[in-house]
Amino acid sequence: MDSTSQMADFSESNFIQALSLGKTEKTPVWFMRQAGRSLPEYRAIRGVGSILDAVANPSLAAEITMQPVKRYGVDAAILYSDIIVPVHACGFGIDIIPGTGPTTDRPFEGESDLKRLANFDAKTDTGYVLSTIEILKKELEVPLIGFAGGPFTVASYLIEGKPSRNFIKTKQMMYTQPKLFESLLWRLTEITVDFLSAQAQSGVNAIQLFDSWVGALSPREYRRFITPCASEIFSSLSKFNIPMISFGTNTSELLGLFVEAGASAVGLDSNTEITTATKRLGDKVAIQGNLDPVVCLTSVDNIISQARQVLMDSAFAPGYVFNLGHGVLPETDPTKLVELVEFLHQNGEEIRKNERASATLANREEHIK
Ligand code: CP3
Repeated sequence: MDSTSQMADFSESNFIQALSLGKTEKTPVWFMRQAGRSLPEYRAIRGVGSILDAVANPSLAAEITMQPVKRYGVDAAILYSDIIVPVHACGFGIDIIPGTGPTTDRPFEGESDLKRLANFDAKTDTGYVLSTIEILKKELEVPLIGFAGGPFTVASYLIEGKPSRNFIKTKQMMYTQPKLFESLLWRLTEITVDFLSAQAQSGVNAIQLFDSWVGALSPREYRRFITPCASEIFSSLSKFNIPMISFGTNTSELLGLFVEAGASAVGLDSNTEITTATKRLGDKVAIQGNLDPVVCLTSVDNIISQARQVLMDSAFAPGYVFNLGHGVLPETDPTKLVELVEFLHQNGEEIRKNERASATLANREEHIK
């Protein structure tokens, strides 16, 4: 292997090593929604209007993707895109209203709406995303994360027509028209496989499936409706040999199912204790998470003491990537995240190692007694 391709796969980086359950010299960290409104440099170049226009401009999207890497010194970049990009690109008729989120005037209601999702080809319809990846592959010095929305989360925006708290229309369809609901999930699964495969072919180093709202389902419902889709996504992607992270909020009862479906890592939100997740998931899966984003609105001292607790909780995870439990809040002061990253890089592995050592010691004392 020549040195350029060795550099390009980033297999020795702390981020890829952690996700592959290998060795880390420093605790790797990135933040969900790291590119976004908390950065003044983002607000300065983002422009007005729909984020989907910014995403469709590869040089702008590449620049925005790199902003948090430059500012925070995080260990991975995440592609500047959105979970709604492929369904928008195939002509469903959905947009993202600033300050509100994904919105459509014609929600998904029946069989005939499947036609609005009939044609999607990642290379022709979202070529701009692949061009952004190509630019980034030349410029970035850290691994690049590609992503897509999980089928439940994307379906919920199409069915509700707008962001929702209780997913009433979505669940009503699931309960009363399960065949229709399944057809929608399957079509979204096909779109997602195509979109993520194209990202992997273009060279992303890891992928994350954001099924942010799937925690609205019970394990039984997840098994029936989502497991087949998630398994199809992860098994189709497995040939690319890149880490695959599954994330959702309020999913502590679903984490085992994420792993059964084929995820190699799970992202935890702040409601799930890392120690509990590690015990449940065993030694085959990497863990990512889970400092409460609201903590980042408090003092640096408080942020660091809470981050220290997260690190201690992660001590026995077989592979560990620091992140927040959900996205960076727009109100966050970026200078505080700079200090957090510095703290994690300087102290992360030491704190985790000490925690393992003192736990072992406590165990030994327990035996002596
Ligand atoms: O930095 C990154 O994490 C990469 C880019 C990214 C965006 N959206 C950009 C974006 C990622 C990974 C997403 C995923 C996404 N989009 C999710 C899953 C993650 C999560 O937070 O649960 C969801 C549910 C969406 C749908 C969506 N897009 C919402 C709810 C919103 C917020 C609407 C608002 O204005 O408050 C968006 C818009 C969006 N996507 C922004 C960004 C940076 C907001 C800023 C803007 O419009 O410039």
